[in-house]
Formats: sequence, structure tokens, C-alpha cells
Amino acid sequence: MPAAAPTPERPALTVDGLHVTVGHGRTEAVHDVSFTVRAGEAVGLVGESGSGKTLTCRSVLGLLAPGTAVSAGRIDLGGTDLTGLDERAWQRVRGLRLGAVFQDPGSYLNPSLTVGRQLAEPLRARHRLSRREARRRAVDLFASVGLHDPETVHDRYPHELSGGMLQRVLVAIAVSDDPELLVADEATTALDTVVQAEVLDLLDRLRTERGLALLLVTHDLAVAAHVTDRLLVLYAGEIVEDGPTAEVLAAPTHPYTEALLTVASLGDRHRRDLAVIPGRPPEPGTAGPGCRFAPRCTYATDACTGAPVALTPVPGRSSHTVRCLRTAELALQGALPPDRTEVPA
Ligand SMILES: Nc1ncnc2c1ncn2[C@@H]1O[C@H](COP(=O)(O)OP(=O)(O)O)[C@@H](O)[C@H]1O
Ligand SMILES: [Mg+2]
Repeated sequence: MPAAAPTPERPALTVDGLHVTVGHGRTEAVHDVSFTVRAGEAVGLVGESGSGKTLTCRSVLGLLAPGTAVSAGRIDLGGTDLTGLDERAWQRVRGLRLGAVFQDPGSYLNPSLTVGRQLAEPLRARHRLSRREARRRAVDLFASVGLHDPETVHDRYPHELSGGMLQRVLVAIAVSDDPELLVADEATTALDTVVQAEVLDLLDRLRTERGLALLLVTHDLAVAAHVTDRLLVLYAGEIVEDGPTAEVLAAPTHPYTEALLTVASLGDRHRRDLAVIPGRPPEPGTAGPGCRFAPRCTYATDACTGAPVALTPVPGRSSHTVRCLRTAELALQGALPPDRTEVPA
């Protein structure tokens, strides 16, 4: 299936009304999630652990675990509808048009093969290259992701490389066929701060140079602030806020986003995790009919819990939506910050 050239009108990725169930269809863990990622754009998916970030990514990649499934919605990659592809078609799309990087690079590599072979062999198979040509391409790719001495790296086994180098190897594999979309799920979480910044800069460079669309999952708002253009804030499987990153971080309009930012700006700069908002999100399938955040929300009223709350445009801001009945009122009262100078750096 050929990739239609992305145009300003046609995003690289469109996710429309995605629902994902777990427990063999028994419970819904992702509810009506819609968003787009344009070519050259980086979209961040943030939210506490268990909010549905990974399920959303794995749906886009066709890599959901057994027992979990897309139960409704459409996923469109550059004009190709990915929902309903069979496994062979998925493999082809993943090989040629999608790239993925996950948290633990070591577990995605075969310990008994050199990293060079793990990049070169699939290239050889897909493009009928000679062994020599494939090696050449692999070495070039390793150089392009900032691995020094790529000839030597090519012949190393995974256990001979550091975590940061392994993550660069995975990025090289992910971009080896110039994908339209790169999905990075907590790709830098396990790395130390310096290496994390280097890998983020690499993703950012690939996005600019290759016009890659980037979907970046993180629980670290500082990471999101560093590389993303737009932010999707997920709570209990639902998008609660969607807007330009700088705007969302400077002036959040959902009480949950505000709480995340407050937590992130507390404490020392090396522990900016999203944890520790009092209370816990509802387990999948146990949320009431109204706002899913209401039981933990300082601003909740009876109106918040009675009926579903829709995502609606934030007054006065273009391309920014929020799922909160009280946004306008709270902003008028100054409860939600009109502007925030201290965004996590
Ligand atoms: N394979 C699975 N089986 C059962 N429940 C799952 C499975 N995968 C995810 N879930 C549940 O779905 C919810 C969302 O999970 P996930 O997308 O992994 O969250 P996140 O990546 O935001 O931490 C969680 O409550 C999680 O327990
Ligand atoms: Mg996850």
C-alpha cells in the first residue's frame, strides 16, 4: 500500500474515536481518543501510569497484547486505514512506514546477534540488498543517530553496548526505512539525565531533518516541554486536555493538568514524575458517568459527576480543547492560573 504524500490537509496520523478493551473485551481502558499528528510535528501523550498511553501507542503500531483489542475507532496513517489489517499487512506497515522505540531497548534486541545484523538483515530482506550494501546502509544509519565509530558498533553484541547506545541502535532500526511516524513510548525514561537529553535531541533532529511525525509518550512533563509541539493529557483512558504544549504548560485549563504541573514543580528537579496527586484514578471500567477526575478534583461540584463531560474548545484559544465544565468559571475566579512562569525546564 503506497504512502500518500502528507499534505497540510492530511495529517501523517489520524486517530479517530479510538476505544481499546482489556481482559478479552470485558473492560474498556481507552475511551474515545481522537488526535492527529502532522508530518514534522511532535505530539506528546502525558498522564499518570495506567492512563492508557501505552495502549494508545500499541493500537497505532498494531502491537496490542493478547486479550487487548481496538473495539472501535479509526486509525489512519497517511491515507491508509490501519484498523482491520491482517498480521502480514501490519508487518509490512511496521517495517516500512512506522518506527517504534520503547523504554527498555535491551529487551527488543536479540542477545545472540550483533546489532549490525539486527539492522541489516531486515533491510536486506525488504530491499533485496547484497550483504555488503546492507552493511553499508547499517553503518550509515548508525552514524546518523550519533553512534561514534559505527563500523565497530555494527559488530558488537547488545550486551557490549551501554543503555544510551542501545537506544540509539533502536532509533536507527526504527528510522531505517524513513517511516512517516515514529512512536516513542517512555523511550528515555530508563536513561540517565545526560543521555536522556541526547536521545531526545536526536529524536528532535530526526523529526526536523526527515519531516518525521513523532508521537512521544512520557510521564515527565519536562521531557514533553523539551520536544513536543502539542500535548494530549490523558486521564483514566480519556483525553482531558489537548493544546499547544507551551500554552498547556503555561496556562492549563483542566484541573488535572494543573495538578500535574503543581506536582511537577514541587520537590527537587530530578524527581518530576507525575505521581502523588492525592487519590487514585479509577480502574478501567469503574468510572462513574461524569468527569473521571471529579473524585480527586478540588473544584468538583455535583454537576461534574452526573453526566459525561465533552471535550470543548477553550474560550479565546484556537486549537485547544478541554473536558471540564468549570474551566471558564475557574479561570475567571483565578483558580486556574491565567499564566504560569514556572514551567518545568
Ligand atoms: N494486557 C493488559 N491486560 C489487562 N489490563 C491491561 C493490559 N494492558 C493495559 N491494561 C490496563 O489498561 C490501563 C492502561 O494501561 P497502559 O496503556 O499501559 O497505561 P500507561 O501506559 O498510561 O501507563 C491500565 O489500567 C492497565 O492496567
Ligand atoms: Mg505505558
